[in-house]
Amino acid sequence: MHTITFFAPKGGSGRTTVVMATASAFIEAGHRVGVIDTTEEARRWPPSGQSFIRQWQTSMLTSGIGPDQLVTASAWDFDSFYSAKKELLTAGCTHILIDTPKAPNKLIEYVLLECDLIVMPFSGYFEATWISSWVTSNLCPVRKMFGLATGLMGTEEHQAIHRQALYGSPMLKSSLPRSYVFANQLIDGSFYKLEAGSDTFGYTDADLLHARSAATKLIKELNRLVKTRSFSRYQCGEQLATGHPLAHLQALHAQAPEAFC
Ligand SMILES: Nc1ncnc2c1ncn2[C@@H]1O[C@H](COP(=O)(O)OP(=O)(O)OP(=O)(O)O)[C@@H](O)[C@H]1O
Ligand SMILES: [Mg+2]
Repeated sequence: MHTITFFAPKGGSGRTTVVMATASAFIEAGHRVGVIDTTEEARRWPPSGQSFIRQWQTSMLTSGIGPDQLVTASAWDFDSFYSAKKELLTAGCTHILIDTPKAPNKLIEYVLLECDLIVMPFSGYFEATWISSWVTSNLCPVRKMFGLATGLMGTEEHQAIHRQALYGSPMLKSSLPRSYVFANQLIDGSFYKLEAGSDTFGYTDADLLHARSAATKLIKELNRLVKTRSFSRYQCGEQLATGHPLAHLQALHAQAPEAFC
């Protein structure tokens, strides 16, 4: 059983999107997946039904993904976390993915320490810089933290600038492209189960294939990492500037002024 935590100290950086994409790809690869929702929304379930992970699970049912393939649970304190984990282990989940809130509390600190791998999604240089500062200023198990570029926009050259903003932590070699296929998972369920041409979201076959192959590549890399735990061959992003809190942004600005318009 492998536990992967998706964490970023800034909201809207793509944690839930990446959890859903990664879970779909693991399911497609034949694994039984458990997702623990420790976000702010998880606490509100029930009665208001605001947990995105629960909503997504319902959408997955429409794609034929049942509890034999996907189990979800909510956790907001240590007791609910332990019982969620027990439930997923009893259900035979081989991969446990944890969605987290942006503000780490005692539970999240524990989850970060305990898991096999931490994936930190970012979709731009501000998030990447934010994550880097957080990692540097917190006593964290940095060795198992990996940045993941998701939904980056712009040219290859422009994207490279975004990636460089994550300094001090290794970066996963895989990334997820910007795609409606990932953005719509909450409402359309697993993108693996969609019959090309029969969906109502206007995806082309190429969109679906592109998204699927990126997610498959990502889970292969994650599987390799959690199995071998050999992190040494991953390169750290280049540190562009240090010292003044804004020095990093200034250095980015000098390199790509158009990115700041
Ligand atoms: N690869 C991608 N392609 C398209 N859109 C993406 C991609 N990754 C993330 N997004 C979009 O970015 C936005 C933020 O993503 P998401 O809600 O997953 O972030 P989060 O970190 O879980 O946010 P929150 O703080 O609200 O929990 C969403 O609109 C999502 O659809
Ligand atoms: Mg979220």
